[in-house]
Amino acid sequence: MPPPPLRPAGPDDILDLARLQIASWRAAYAGLIAPATLDGLDFARAAIRWQRAIDDGLRVLVAAEPALLGFITMEKDEISMLYVAPDRWRRGIGRRLLQAALASLKEQGRGEAGLWVLSGNARARAFYQAEGGRLTASGLVRVGTQELPQVRYVWNLAAPTVPEG
Ligand SMILES: CC(C)(COP(=O)(O)OP(=O)(O)OC[C@H]1O[C@@H](n2cnc3c(N)ncnc32)[C@H](O)[C@@H]1OP(=O)(O)O)[C@@H](O)C(=O)NCCC(=O)NCCS
Repeated sequence: MPPPPLRPAGPDDILDLARLQIASWRAAYAGLIAPATLDGLDFARAAIRWQRAIDDGLRVLVAAEPALLGFITMEKDEISMLYVAPDRWRRGIGRRLLQAALASLKEQGRGEAGLWVLSGNARARAFYQAEGGRLTASGLVRVGTQELPQVRYVWNLAAPTVPEG
């Protein structure tokens, strides 16, 4: 199957972004985030947040064939979200999105890009390590009623360390 093309998100993607984000959260965070928090994820509220984010100019890149299969968001030099549809995990979509985002940040003259991930999110951590992320920090993040450990991965964009794929 050819890899899905990437493009910037637009207003027509808002409902699909909300849907994919909730599905990916529930699949990725079961056992990490309290069931009450995951059960409480609300599609209408998520859609409103996406509407605001798109209106405010959040940079979002989507992989779509045309059904939405994944997305990544960039805020200054931070990768703030990266989600792939659970039934398409491990098919190279996350890699394409991350590499495109890193290339775009580099093009803007950013020297570094980074992101935070829950310490217990072994799948994502294996992915970031495979994609050349450097573990640089740890901390805590509030998710619903929980305080969870998180770690930070950073990519040096000034050096040619982003793997090609
Ligand atoms: C993390 C995530 C974005 C990765 O995207 P993906 O499309 O599944 O990953 P890719 O297929 O591009 O994987 C690229 C490489 O990462 C590594 N990798 C990915 N998933 C892995 C896993 N489950 N175990 C070990 N290594 C893994 C592999 O080296 C893989 O290359 P390979 O398949 O050729 O061996 C995706 O799993 C996801 O959306 N997870 C749920 C949401 C989430 O946790 N997001 C991150 C929040 S910070």
